[in-house]
Amino acid sequence: MTSPVLADPAPPDEGGDVLVLQSVCAAYGPYRALFDVSFTVPKGGIVALVGSNGAGKTTVARTVTGLVTASVGTVLFCGRDVTRLPAYKIARLGMAHVVEGRGVFSSLTVEENLTLAFRQRAGRRLLAGNLERAYTAFPILGERRRQFAGTLSGGQQRLLSLAKVLVVPPQVLVADELSLGLAPVVVDAVYDGLREINRNGTALIVVEQQVSRVLELANKAVVLDRGSVAYQGDPAGAGEAVESLMARREAATASAVGHGDDIDDLTS
Ligand SMILES: Nc1ncnc2c1ncn2[C@@H]1O[C@H](COP(=O)(O)OP(=O)(O)O)[C@@H](O)[C@H]1O
Ligand SMILES: [Mg+2]
Repeated sequence: MTSPVLADPAPPDEGGDVLVLQSVCAAYGPYRALFDVSFTVPKGGIVALVGSNGAGKTTVARTVTGLVTASVGTVLFCGRDVTRLPAYKIARLGMAHVVEGRGVFSSLTVEENLTLAFRQRAGRRLLAGNLERAYTAFPILGERRRQFAGTLSGGQQRLLSLAKVLVVPPQVLVADELSLGLAPVVVDAVYDGLREINRNGTALIVVEQQVSRVLELANKAVVLDRGSVAYQGDPAGAGEAVESLMARREAATASAVGHGDDIDDLTS
């Protein structure tokens, strides 16, 4: 006799990965931005997604969250194929996205920003308790709850965008360039916020152009170069991968400049 539990097993674990990208290509019209991007995000893990400006980091973020649809390849989220799902459906499955820039409504107060997010995610009934939780995790937001978000410092705005996801911990949070333009001490606070969210069980994809700090936070690194994965694995090896890419890029630029000189000589 088969027990009902055994007859109805849990979905397969996909090797403990919450997110899997398989040979993903993406384009903006005729412009191809991603080429065969494959990597995995372990459950509860922290993946640093690094690379120079224009490498395709934001496009990867948009592809996994559904804002850009992969032209080729597959995105699996908790074992489910979400490649062609719209962003709002992927969000409902437990994917949160803190976009580049500040990701808050500047003409609303801190509390109005949180209320909007929490009502959407957790319903009106739980609102008061959820606001309290957010202010406990980020006391500075409690102090400034009646202030317009647009008048907060850049770092406080990033904290506000992180606080929005604390209430219903997502399976995955994609955070795009959170530290851009922030003073180092403020970046510390933002990274503490990320750690807190990760402690609640959320896996993170942390996109950064500045590599050193994110590599300390992460337990896996993916280095992108011109739309392709140049390295993935231990964060300890990623710094070296980035440096060698930069050296190669500089050598290529130097040789292109040399080539340009030749052209100038011919035309002068
Ligand atoms: N909306 C867009 N339309 C056309 N090209 C874009 C768009 N967004 C990004 N790109 C191009 O795609 C490439 C990757 O960009 P992006 O993913 O933003 O890189 P990163 O976040 O690593 O700086 C770049 O060459 C960029 O110019
Ligand atoms: Mg970007």
